[in-house]
Order: sequence, then structure tokens, then C-alpha cells
Amino acid sequence: MLEIYLGKEHGEAVMEELKILGVTELIEGGPTMLFGRRVLGKGQNAVVIRCRHEVVEGEWACKLRRRDASRPSLFWEGYILRLVNGIGIGPRLLTFSRNVVIMEEVLGESLNKSLNPDVARRLLEQARRLDVMGISHNELGRGGRHVVVRNGEPIILDFESATINGSRSNVLQLINALVGGAPELRGAARRYKVERSDEAFRELVEGVVRLMERRVR
Ligand SMILES: Nc1ncnc2c1ncn2[C@@H]1O[C@H](COP(=O)(O)OP(=O)(O)OP(=O)(O)O)[C@@H](O)[C@H]1O
Ligand SMILES: [Mg+2]
Repeated sequence: MLEIYLGKEHGEAVMEELKILGVTELIEGGPTMLFGRRVLGKGQNAVVIRCRHEVVEGEWACKLRRRDASRPSLFWEGYILRLVNGIGIGPRLLTFSRNVVIMEEVLGESLNKSLNPDVARRLLEQARRLDVMGISHNELGRGGRHVVVRNGEPIILDFESATINGSRSNVLQLINALVGGAPELRGAARRYKVERSDEAFRELVEGVVRLMERRVR
């Protein structure tokens, strides 16, 4: 069992939850180093460790809340991930508790590295589905740090800051991150903001793709 130090009491609480959720093992592996060990990732609020489950085969990703995290639990993230899984978005959720989210392990490339018009289109389609559902990820404007691309398919990670029923558009945030505030898109962006229609969305996507194609030439 890989030992990850999360603070004495907090660490014990996390281990207890892992046991109850059916995790049999935390294992080393992944692209990030933590205390000299390989892990899947680390952030401000959590560390993500490869793990195994007693019933469901294969390797999973266990997101473990850090003691100094800015949020008191991962419950919200778990609920939102369940919601968005319902429309085919995000890593597949296995189960979750106060300090643990167990989800599909997603290994791929960063968005920066693998961005092309096709990936942008697929990602915008996911953002559109979130807009229609009334779920805002709220961190898609941060340069695609929360998107991994696996075999050409973008997967959106980390729904901890997501909100429901708000008016913030995933599509518009993402476009900002992808191409910046391009003047050519201003009209279409405004139209989408007001109408939120399929037609305005398609106009916007075609604008983004044209812009990207022109930039690589
Ligand atoms: N399901 C997953 N499979 C593989 N790696 C993952 C998975 N989820 C997250 N990671 C990796 O772990 C990193 C941290 O995860 P995440 O962003 O969810 O944590 P966080 O503490 O909320 O981070 P932040 O401080 O950036 O908000 C991610 O950037 C990613 O590299
Ligand atoms: Mg986060």
C-alpha cells in the first residue's frame, strides 16, 4: 500500500473512508511526483492516487481531500460528477464520500499540447451540453488546466467549483481560454450570450474553428 501523508488525524479519517468505500490498495504510478513517489496528480485541494477496488476491476483514480483544502468536503464534487456523467461528461464516477472521490483514471495529454480544431469542436460540444443542463464548471477559463485529451477525446476534470442554475456559460469561458477575446468572434459570442440557441452556438463554433485554422497556417 502506497503511504501518502495527509496529516495524522485527517490521514486516518481518509484511510477509514477508503476502506468503507471498498478501496483495497493505493498504488504508485502517474505523471506527477509527490514526496518522491509517482502519483496521478496534485492540486491545491487534493492529491489524486491510483487505486484498486475490491469489486470493480482495474485501476481507478482516488482523489483525496487535503487537510488544508479550501473546501470542507468533496461531497459537492461527487454530486456534480454524478450529474455530468449522466450526459457523458467527466471521468466515470465510481463512488464518493466526505474526503474521497473514486473515478475513472484518465491519462492523456494536456490540452495545450493536443489542441486542434477537432478537439476544440468536441470540447465545445461538451461545454454546450453543460450550458443546456445549467451546470457551470467555472474553471474552464483557466487555460484548459482542467482538460485532459485522451485519444483525441477531451475529458473535463475537477468539478469542485461547479455551480448549478447560474448564468455563467461554459462555452464562452472555454472560448476565452482557447482563442482569447478574438474581435472576430465578438458578435457571435454576444448572440450566444443572449440567445443561448443552437444556431448561435454553431455560428460560434464555426468561428472558433476558422480562427484556429487560420492561426496554424
Ligand atoms: N481521474 C483522474 N485520472 C487521472 N489523473 C487525474 C484525475 N483527476 C485528476 N487528475 C490529476 O490530478 C490533478 C489534480 O486534480 P484536481 O484538479 O481534481 O485537484 P484539485 O486539488 O482540485 O486541483 P486544483 O488545485 O487545480 O483545483 C489534475 O490536474 C490531474 O493531473
Ligand atoms: Mg480543483
